[in-house]
Amino acid sequence: MRQQALLGAAFLLYCSCGGVEESPSEENQLLIPEQGDSLELPSQTFPLDQALQNQSLWGASDSSGAVLIGGTGGFYQLGDTELTQLGTQSVYSAIHISGQGFLFNMGDKLSIWNGNKLLDSPLNQFVKVSQDSEMAALGQLFVVAGEEALFIFDGGQQLLQFSELAASKSLSIDTAGQLIAGLSPQGPFLLRKQGDKYQLQMLADEISMSEVFSVFQGQAIGLSDTQMMRRIEQEGRVRWLAMALGKDASAPAIAQRIVPDTDSRALWIFTPSGVTRLVDQGRRASSVEVSMNLQNLNSAFGLNGALWLNDGLNLTRIGNPGPAVSFATTILAFHEKNCARCHVPGGLGRSLQNYSEWVENIDSAIEQLDQGTMPQDGAALLEGTVELLRRWRADGLRP
Ligand code: HEC
Repeated sequence: MRQQALLGAAFLLYCSCGGVEESPSEENQLLIPEQGDSLELPSQTFPLDQALQNQSLWGASDSSGAVLIGGTGGFYQLGDTELTQLGTQSVYSAIHISGQGFLFNMGDKLSIWNGNKLLDSPLNQFVKVSQDSEMAALGQLFVVAGEEALFIFDGGQQLLQFSELAASKSLSIDTAGQLIAGLSPQGPFLLRKQGDKYQLQMLADEISMSEVFSVFQGQAIGLSDTQMMRRIEQEGRVRWLAMALGKDASAPAIAQRIVPDTDSRALWIFTPSGVTRLVDQGRRASSVEVSMNLQNLNSAFGLNGALWLNDGLNLTRIGNPGPAVSFATTILAFHEKNCARCHVPGGLGRSLQNYSEWVENIDSAIEQLDQGTMPQDGAALLEGTVELLRRWRADGLRP
């Protein structure tokens, strides 16, 4: 875990934001999640081949949910109960790009895994990578932090190049592809999409960060010392507010590590007392049972709405197998078949027609279906049962 010099009390931090005046009440302002629960997620352990033991591992998945796992000992396909080797080459990081396949960082070049064999990537003409080069992807949009510059590509066409962001770490892309965050050697940065360009904002004069992420729409969240902070920009005014991880939090949360899952739009926060999952733009915090020692992990990553923990000998998935259930692809159709005849604006029941209304009522909806009180007209459920809603909640209430 990276360590940063102690910065003092959280509320002192945003006093350094240029030109920002703080009123006393705002100094103690703490962002508290609106909803919280504790989750028991299914967990499954996959023993690691000797070739994959005691090293940092990555995971990447395509839209069908096929998962590849790899490291310096080769790359593997995840099956129902075990990992099957696909290749013995060292792969230092990997992403999946829609319509193109998996892009592998081989340490000195980029290769494409097309499901059968490794092909040289045309990107090698202009991107120079090292073993430490990081990447991030969302659909067709992807970012590679090479040795000489950071590149943003959309569908394989070079869009933009930022030499000041060479060798950046902890790259992430927010839900809508509007914001890219990372940690450059000069400090944390944001790249904000404007038309077909990205505007670079260096944050070093706002705050010091050991991690920075943007998986929630238009929001940057980071770790400053061990305090989770969120960047709020309103009317040209920037503030970093401390975040709590529970409703009853009397003190800001101490976080040791943040693991993002761009795909399901969740953040997994490691604290001294366990793991908390933040979803729905941070409005919902769930404490998650993890029966593993989190202090000695070789690596951890978020993928398909699940948290993946590597202790050197085993890889453990906390969460459901397969792709995460999402509102757009599944829950909306379930709603239209079963609930929409009453739960619309002006209907018999409260409006449940969009994502946030569903998120707000999900616990109560599951309770109603468990008790058999909904649908109120007693009609049989079509295209899914309460298990679908439970699964959506477990997978991180993905939009
Ligand atoms: C025939 C009409 C009808 C259908 C169909 C229906 N509901 Fe309801 N529902 C109601 C009414 C009326 C209420 C009471 C008013 C309210 O709280 O919205 C209600 C209440 C609720 C509540 C609030 C319960 C509480 O007290 O907290 C939830 C949650 C809910 N429904 C979920 C659902 C879900 C999910 C579906 C579809 C699987 C569904 N309902 C289908 C009519 C219906």
